[in-house]
This record gives sequence, C-alpha cells and structure tokens, in this order.
Amino acid sequence: MIQPARHIANVKYAIRNIAAEAARLEAQGMKILPCNIGDPLRFDFATPPHLSEAVERALRDGHNHYVPSAGLKEAREAVAASLQPTVRPEDVFITAGVSEALDLALTALLEVGDEVLLPSPGYPLYNAIATRLQATVVPYFLDESKGWALDAEEIAAKVTSRTRAIVICNPNNPTGAVATRTQLEQVLAVARKHRLVVLSDEIYDRVLFSGEHVPTATLCDDVPLITLNGLSKAYLCPGWRVGWLAFNTPKLLSGVAASVQRLADARLCGPGPFQYAVKPALEGPQDHLPQMMKKLRARRDLMMKRLRAMPGISVVEPQGAFYALPSIERAWAGGDEAFVLELVRETGVLFVHGDGFGQRPGTRHFRVVFLPSEPVLSAAFDGLEGFLRARS
Ligand SMILES: Cc1ncc(COP(=O)(O)O)c(C=O)c1O
Repeated sequence: MIQPARHIANVKYAIRNIAAEAARLEAQGMKILPCNIGDPLRFDFATPPHLSEAVERALRDGHNHYVPSAGLKEAREAVAASLQPTVRPEDVFITAGVSEALDLALTALLEVGDEVLLPSPGYPLYNAIATRLQATVVPYFLDESKGWALDAEEIAAKVTSRTRAIVICNPNNPTGAVATRTQLEQVLAVARKHRLVVLSDEIYDRVLFSGEHVPTATLCDDVPLITLNGLSKAYLCPGWRVGWLAFNTPKLLSGVAASVQRLADARLCGPGPFQYAVKPALEGPQDHLPQMMKKLRARRDLMMKRLRAMPGISVVEPQGAFYALPSIERAWAGGDEAFVLELVRETGVLFVHGDGFGQRPGTRHFRVVFLPSEPVLSAAFDGLEGFLRARS
C-alpha cells in the first residue's frame, strides 16, 4: 500500500465530514432535517435571473476558452470599483471561490513553521489550508460573553516572532457576529505594530440583519491588507465558484502579489464563463438581497425564540450571515461531535459540532444553519427540544 503524505491526515473540514454520516442514515430511509450546510441554493433561494442570463450568454457566445489567470478584465474592473476604497483592477485576482483566493494568498505568504492567527470559532477551511502548508495554526478566541467579539488583546497576546498573518472573518462563520469599527481598528493596530498581514474574509458583508458592515480596508492604508469576497453567498451561486482577493495596500504587498500571480498562472485560470456574472452582480439590480434578508430574518427570529426556550442551551443572536453557534451547558460524553451524531441518529436533525470550528477548551457548541424554511426549522427544533428534554 502506498502511504499518503502524513500531514494531510490533519486536514479536516467538519462541515462535509459530518454530512457523510447523514448521507448514510438517509440511504437507510431516515428523513434528514439539514441545518448543516451554508448553501442557500439547497433551500428556497434562487440565483438572480440576470446573473444566469449573463452566464448563458457567455456560453452561447463561445466564451469557453481559458481566461487570464488573474481573471477576466471586466470582472477585475467591476470588483476593483466595488471596493471601499477602490483599488486598481490589477490589484484584484478572480479565483475559484473565496476558497481558492484564501489558498493562493496563504500559499504565497506562509513558509513551513510560520504562525498564522485564525479565529476560533472560525471557518475550518483556514485551518485546513494552513495545515496543508505545514504552517502553525494559532487560534485566537472570540469572546462569547461579549457576543463573540473580536478581541485584539487576545490576538496581541498570541503574536510571536514567527507570526506572519491574522485572518479576520466579518461577519463570522460560525457565530454570525459582526465586528465593530473599534474592534477592527484595534486588530489593525496589532498588525501594524508587528508588521503582520491581515486577510479579511468579507464573504457575508451583505448578509446583515442590523447595523453596518465596516470593510476593513476603510480603516487603514498602512497595514498589509488583503480583502476576500465572492458571489457564493450574497449572489446565490456557490456552485459557480467565483470569488476574488484584492490587495488593498499593494505597495506593501507587491512581492506577495507577484507570488499570487505565479501560483495563479500555474493553475491556468478560474472557471471562465461564470466570471461574466461578476459585473452584472456588482453593478446590476440588487433586489434579491432585501428579499433574502426578509426570509432570513424571520428564520433567525424563529430560531432564537425556540433556542431560548430550550433547557441547557444559551445562544448569542447572530447579526449577520446565516449561522448561530449555541452553547451546550452540560458536558456531553464524547464531546460535541458525539452530541451531533446522537442527535442526527435519533431525530434526523443535522447540525455541525462546535469543535469542528475550534472553541475555547472546556466549552461545547453546535452550529445551526438557519437557511431552511420555517416548517423545516420548526421540525428541526422540535426534534432538538425533545432530545434535550428527554435527557434533562
Ligand atoms: C467564511 C467563509 N469564507 C469562505 C467560504 C468559501 O466560499 P466560496 O464558495 O467563495 O469558496 C465560506 C463558505 O461557506 C465561508 O463561510
């Protein structure tokens, strides 16, 4: 038997791993109530028609060729113009989703053994990429007692001479927290002091319930900053694999940008025809957004009402994205993966365990995706409530 590279055994992505068990149960005839995957298209949301039309037109017009490795010119121009403050089109790379943008940026930055500060709880792809690069992951904990706040003091305390970068996710997956201007300014001050690169994942910037989203780039021009975003969430087309990264402070990052270009050249290009949707997405009608937020708000409110009434559960109300990360007060034998597995096997209700996102030691959580329709969410919370009451 040929041995695979050893360090890949540490690459984990809890969201898809847990779905494998649900697929097994479903194949045995069990009805699964899916509150686990952040793909709005699995539920009653649809891609805005003008985006599908732009892609159909590109296909019909024969744009099935490779596009430039940094992306289609008109897409780069549209992204550059959409950012606050704007950047030059040459500072933008169009990628196969934010996933590939993160991969290119982190690969261009991190040497084996370099440290990267990642939010905990946080989106597991950051950890998976850093692990593949054999960088050292240093989690910085978000403050649950303050609504899962970004805590610059916590970040500062974790900086060492090997630290190269800080990843921020705002709004955050899996907590739904939105960072305040002050929190971001404080994190930028840490980055400035220690000459760290900040990667700001803003994929949920338009999925907001209240308040404002402050783009990190509006707060500094003297910190090496890369902003990441894409069409998957707010523009409802995750399968198209369209995302981007932008070098907000190109003078400080010209070497990294040249390395990203090298990596981008070596993988030829992102999916071409779908890049024709970027300009119409960013510059065309936006009326799907208030419609989506109306549905999501009702679902979030239903979730909050149900979770607040459940024994042994506490939850911070999400301000953005479509996730919440309730805390389980009592210790669960086998940890929160065992909790999620027991729940799905008994009730068909599928969440993702909190430790798949990282969490402060000694705490227990599970992530709820509140994209499903109200009847599905109600049935899922009935299942959860019955499960908890039977054990309280
Ligand atoms: C915080 C965050 N960043 C990035 C991604 C990946 O997005 P994409 O579909 O653009 O690769 C996701 C997907 O769920 C996400 O939640």
